[in-house]
Amino acid sequence: MQTRLLNVDPDDPQPELIAAAARALLAGELVAFPTETVYGLGANALDADALGKIFVAKRRPTSDPIIAHIADLEQLDTLARDVPEIARILARQFWPGPLTLILKRAEAVPGIIAEGRDTIAVRMPAHPVARALLAAAAVPVGAPSANTFTRPSATRAAHVEEDLAGRIAMILDGGSATIGLESTVLDLTGPTPRVLRPGGVTLESLRAVVPDLELAPSYVSVSEGSQSPGQLLKHYSPRARLLLFHGDETRVLDAMRQRAKEAMAMGQTVGLLVADEDATALEGTGDMQRLGPAGDLDAIGRRLFANMRELDARGVDLMLVRDPGRDGLGAALWDRLLRAAEGQLIEV
Ligand code: TXA
Ligand code: MG
Repeated sequence: MQTRLLNVDPDDPQPELIAAAARALLAGELVAFPTETVYGLGANALDADALGKIFVAKRRPTSDPIIAHIADLEQLDTLARDVPEIARILARQFWPGPLTLILKRAEAVPGIIAEGRDTIAVRMPAHPVARALLAAAAVPVGAPSANTFTRPSATRAAHVEEDLAGRIAMILDGGSATIGLESTVLDLTGPTPRVLRPGGVTLESLRAVVPDLELAPSYVSVSEGSQSPGQLLKHYSPRARLLLFHGDETRVLDAMRQRAKEAMAMGQTVGLLVADEDATALEGTGDMQRLGPAGDLDAIGRRLFANMRELDARGVDLMLVRDPGRDGLGAALWDRLLRAAEGQLIEV
């Protein structure tokens, strides 16, 4: 299949390009498009055959449910039933934006979107291109992150091409995703609201609205199997082995230098994902990719996946990263790094 790549203005998308993408969606094709979190791989959420193509293109097991993206609140009631008041309060406060709500699924939605379970994940994205596309298509759009299963999410059109060229109809190139990490997934179907995946909306800002919120991501190794591969360790993984270091700063930097030296002595190439402040201390220990200032978690979030892919493209054997902390966006960064490291945390 020939994948069409269309360059769209990220702030003011050209109507004729959006119309072409909407036509492709309505014809049952897959269209990758930018959102403020990461690129999504979209299919008409009301078309079971189109949704099925997503799993094939991504090489993703059908047991992993897909988020339905909506343009307006009216669409929410076509996808979900018995919507609790708290969902509407959260929607008013955080939509459009990087928050996904798990609700009870309405009959009209094909079961393949959530593999038979009677729930549905819904999000209203904020990116102008995503909004224009959803409005033009006038159907909810099912979209996982536009990467091959288990690889780091795509934050640029070039990443989507790398993973999916020849397997999907179209890519809308709207530049870099502004957040760079996926949405926060909040399950509202149980007795207490549970965050299944920390993401672009921080736990602190959610707790201001939902004080009894639980953080309940589950980490399951590939061999243990999982109901939802979104919970797998080895998710967002680079090809290289990644080691996540945690502990006192000075000792962690020493340990990273030591580990890099050992690897290089064994003939391995080493890549480092580093905060600007750590660059001097780690000079000469390998191929360094700067993430941004240590205190600027927004900047780090924007670059994390892109820098992982960059080091992969350079063919490093090993990637070393220091824990960025867990406050604010740090909770999402920690989650992605732990999964990329497949749970291999080095406590110093
Ligand atoms: O930021 C995002 O959420 C991006 C953009 C494209 O919107 N999408 C995204 O989709 O990250 P995906 O498929 O890569 O991750 C969706 C996560 C998975 O962990 C999946 O298991 C979970 O949401 N999820 C989806 N539907 C669910 C449901 N009905 N119940 C529980 N978890 C669900
Ligand atoms: Mg994903």
